[in-house]
Amino acid sequence: MFFPAYRPRRMRRNENLRRLIRETKLSVDDLVHPLFVVPGKGVKKPIHSMPGNFQMSVDHLLKEVKQSKDLGIPAVLLFGIPDEKDELASGAVRKDGIIQQAVRAIKDRVPDILVITDLCFCEYTSHGHCGCLKDGDVDNDATLEMLAETAVSQATETAVSQAKAGADIVAPSAMMDGQIEAIRDGLDEAGFENTPIMAYSAKYASCFYGPFREAAESAPQFGDRRGYQMDPANSDEAVREIGLDIEEGADIVMVKPALPYLDIIRRAREEFDHPIAAYNVSGEFAMIKAAAQMGWLDGERAMMESLTAIKRAGADIILTYFAPEAAKLLQKQA
Ligand code: PBG
Repeated sequence: MFFPAYRPRRMRRNENLRRLIRETKLSVDDLVHPLFVVPGKGVKKPIHSMPGNFQMSVDHLLKEVKQSKDLGIPAVLLFGIPDEKDELASGAVRKDGIIQQAVRAIKDRVPDILVITDLCFCEYTSHGHCGCLKDGDVDNDATLEMLAETAVSQATETAVSQAKAGADIVAPSAMMDGQIEAIRDGLDEAGFENTPIMAYSAKYASCFYGPFREAAESAPQFGDRRGYQMDPANSDEAVREIGLDIEEGADIVMVKPALPYLDIIRRAREEFDHPIAAYNVSGEFAMIKAAAQMGWLDGERAMMESLTAIKRAGADIILTYFAPEAAKLLQKQA
């Protein structure tokens, strides 16, 4: 029998030893909390497949944002669900649109937290697709014009309402070719050179968005998103997509979903030195919640293990519905 002199288990024998050699430390600084805002007052409608998450009117949203801020979470990501949808997503570009109202209210009442606005049309179109339709197909270039217009109006509205210029970060998520450059130009022309873009660069056509589509009421009415979102089987393509977005001016690049794509996060980390975000999406959240409710998993540990894995893979920023829960736990541990 051969017994090696180096026995790794020596360093695992108690928590203080483990703390000394721990490589990855999850921090509240890494977290972004996604939230869903709807028109009206006094609305707080549970999203069944995402326990603890709600569609909220601005009054309730403000309380939630304040709670996130008090927990030390640096940013929220906002999704707007308008009252009325139409073919051209007009609700997204309106100055008094739901997102614009929400951003203004947050900047006014809870200024000390970053507001990231999701920039996509699937919540606003009657057909549920992320862009303009032409002959039953999503028209890339017409969508680019719409996207640039929305970015400008959102940022403009926010700037008017607050001393700091613009929504703090805009996050285009439609996977239209050339969208980052178009939005960067639009922002610059309107005087928002300092508004960063977080690009959903490697966004896969994933079934893990299922619960989100209930939350955002954005399920496509026909077809699916495989014509614009990425094929889950591809990895080199993610590198090309991320590279393009960086060339076009993205300040943060994102991989989405997170857990089934840890290899993509790791690859992005190795190939680019840009800040990398990973979106721990609704389905990843729902799986853990459901298993925990059944008593099949320790929900808290599954949450922390997942978030730590995403960070270990190379993410600097984690967008997650677990943000408040994880922040509370991290606070307790500190
Ligand atoms: C598109 C968008 C989606 C998500 C974020 N932005 C859904 C989609 O592409 O269908 C999914 C987020 C999640 O599942 O948590 N606006």
